[in-house]
Amino acid sequence: MKKGEQKRLKSRFPPSLFALYLVTLLLMSGIHIGLVTLINENPGWNTSVQILIPTAYWTLVAVCLTLFTRYQITKTYDKPMKELAKAAERVAHGDFSVYIPPLHTTNRHDYLDLMFLDFNKMVAELGSLETMRTDFIANVSHEIKTPLAGIQNYAQLLRRPGLTDEERETYISAILTSTRRLSSLVTNILKLNKLESQQIVPQFEPYDLCGQLSECAMAFEPLWEEKNIDFEADIEDRATIYGDASLLELVWNNLLSNAFKFTEPGGLVTLKQTSDDTHVFVSVSDTGCGMSPETQKHIFDKFYQGDTSHATEGNGLGLALALRVLQLMNAAIQVDSAVGRGTTFTVQIPTEEKTKESS
Ligand SMILES: Nc1ncnc2c1ncn2[C@@H]1O[C@H](COP(=O)(O)OP(=O)(O)OP(=O)(O)O)[C@@H](O)[C@H]1O
Ligand SMILES: [Mg+2]
Repeated sequence: MKKGEQKRLKSRFPPSLFALYLVTLLLMSGIHIGLVTLINENPGWNTSVQILIPTAYWTLVAVCLTLFTRYQITKTYDKPMKELAKAAERVAHGDFSVYIPPLHTTNRHDYLDLMFLDFNKMVAELGSLETMRTDFIANVSHEIKTPLAGIQNYAQLLRRPGLTDEERETYISAILTSTRRLSSLVTNILKLNKLESQQIVPQFEPYDLCGQLSECAMAFEPLWEEKNIDFEADIEDRATIYGDASLLELVWNNLLSNAFKFTEPGGLVTLKQTSDDTHVFVSVSDTGCGMSPETQKHIFDKFYQGDTSHATEGNGLGLALALRVLQLMNAAIQVDSAVGRGTTFTVQIPTEEKTKESS
């Protein structure tokens, strides 16, 4: 807690309580003196009455003070603690909608209020983790169900008697496409999981990024020819970076595959690489469908697919994986896109010298 914040915290037993007790006791003593005077003025009262009056009076005072203290403790500790215990019990039973309102306004927060606020924050955090977990299971199940249904349907079709060779070939290749999809889904989930749980330790080594970019781009040649898309590359002769080549390959492959996937025949995909003293820049541009600002906000989320017309080609894990890899490489990625105009993804990676300087 910061120093300034501490000052704002209201104490559960403020000095005003001491003042209240002092005034009350003085008042009680005053009444006691009044009673003694009254007894002295009436010498005819017998001894037991003289003893009984102050005893009864102080008994009453003690009862009142006890009741007041009990009320004070119940109000300040017992009630809030019971509320907290009830809320914790609800959370333990899986209810993450619990919220305990602080007892005082923001400028009069005390330690219990802070505890309530932290508890609320913790519950909200747990709730969002739980949502993420259930969303993840729902997404994985959905992604597995679609290709499985495909495999089942085509396998049933294959059982039909009297199929022509052509039909058989069509069904078999449909089954193979679905199995490839399933296999890439499982591979990507495992990779992402390993990256997130830090089971994959990046193997940093100096290597030539330009060579890697050319190799990745060339692997897409059959695709751009088949889709009749123009491809242009503008890459330097050599740019050495210090990173994990096999992880970064995932990034380039996904950016290029997205560019070709979301660009219509006749379009253009450009791969550009430049560098300055500290960073190497790689951009992949396309003249494809582009993305709305709303879509752009979610593209790095797991399983998010903005353009549903291509939903069967992939699982929406590519950019989530790319982002995780780039974070591990201390690199950054940014997107510039407009619907109908196209998209440019730009990656910025520190040069070998820059990485060594900062490590
Ligand atoms: N170049 C692009 N042009 C238009 N939309 C894009 C582009 N790149 C990504 N997107 C949008 O971002 C979404 C997420 O991309 P991502 O690469 O994570 O998943 P995917 O390509 O659908 O599937 P996967 O990468 O798992 O095969 C895409 O579904 C698409 O809506
Ligand atoms: Mg992709």
